[in-house]
Amino acid sequence: MRKSDYREMYGGKSHRLSCSVLNPGSCIPIVRKYLGVAAYVSIIVGTAFLVCCAFWLPDIRLWCKLEELEQKGQSMDSFLLMRQEERAAYDRLMRYILHPQAHCLTMEVLGGKRGRNKKFDGDKTICLEPGPGLSEDCIVYSFGIANEWSFDESIHEMFGCKVFSFDPSMGMEDHQHGDGIMFFNMGIGEFDGKITVTGQTWNMRTFDSILKQLGHWNRTIDVLKMDIEGAEYVVLEDILGKGLLNHVNHLCMEIHLPDNPYWTRVLRLLRRIEEEAGLRHFSTRNNTQMPPMRVPGFYARYEQHFFEMAWYRH
Ligand SMILES: *[C@@H]1O[C@H](CO)[C@@H](O)[C@H](O)[C@H]1NC(C)=O
Ligand SMILES: *[C@@H]1O[C@H](CO)[C@@H](O)[C@H](O)[C@H]1NC(C)=O
Repeated sequence: MRKSDYREMYGGKSHRLSCSVLNPGSCIPIVRKYLGVAAYVSIIVGTAFLVCCAFWLPDIRLWCKLEELEQKGQSMDSFLLMRQEERAAYDRLMRYILHPQAHCLTMEVLGGKRGRNKKFDGDKTICLEPGPGLSEDCIVYSFGIANEWSFDESIHEMFGCKVFSFDPSMGMEDHQHGDGIMFFNMGIGEFDGKITVTGQTWNMRTFDSILKQLGHWNRTIDVLKMDIEGAEYVVLEDILGKGLLNHVNHLCMEIHLPDNPYWTRVLRLLRRIEEEAGLRHFSTRNNTQMPPMRVPGFYARYEQHFFEMAWYRH
């Protein structure tokens, strides 16, 4: 017997899986075999992809920039460096927010209420030291009420301040809310006009036109309170740009960190409050109403995003 005949006898070619046009039935096991492998691979790749998405989706903005960098002939290194810078910027911003540089020995926390989760929301801090303290005939502007009058009522009761409260979202007409508290159905914005929000028409006014309307142009405003749900950046920019913060002695503001890593921009704006208006940052309280949220640009880092910040003139 020739060598090749043994091979015929004990297997060899004829027993190996083969697939040909002449014998299509024999293809099925091969297809099955590869489909099985493909299924395993796709399960693994799919899971990895989902895990990546869960952590990295908000960073797609950065990946888009990566392409930009490559077009400019820059490498992956500069991409990583950019991420590094962004993270450093976040750390700088958080340091500014969480560590007030000015001191105030006699602080008064006003207003605020416990939410359903027993956490505090809406409390504002005032410094009562002689410099920035509240004047005899103090004037308070309070933007963003949401049917929560505790700050407005307590600052009037404790210090006799005249309070002007504003909120376009409550569907309430202008009225006197008790003694010394005047309510206006309007919101503070960066332009005068109307906007439509969830079917409601809101009357928006800039800070300067509100001051003019109420006859407080050139008057010192003892407290400017803002709880305006993310609109604080454009409004602050408008007020700073017009130099109006120079007539304000206390700024109490809830800040909401943005969903995008614009940390440097936010920090620059907050610093302008000190540099341009001469106010000093003396207090930050976490608004724990919202649980810590993922920080964009970081891998699974969770931090508080809402803070009650306060500045005073010293
Ligand atoms: C505001 O003050 C400036 C300078 O003190 C003065 O020139 C201006 O007339 C005042 N404006 C009003 C409306 O009182
Ligand atoms: C406030 O939030 C920051 C940022 O998440 C956190 O580092 C800090 O521990 C919090 N402070 C308090 C008193 O909860």
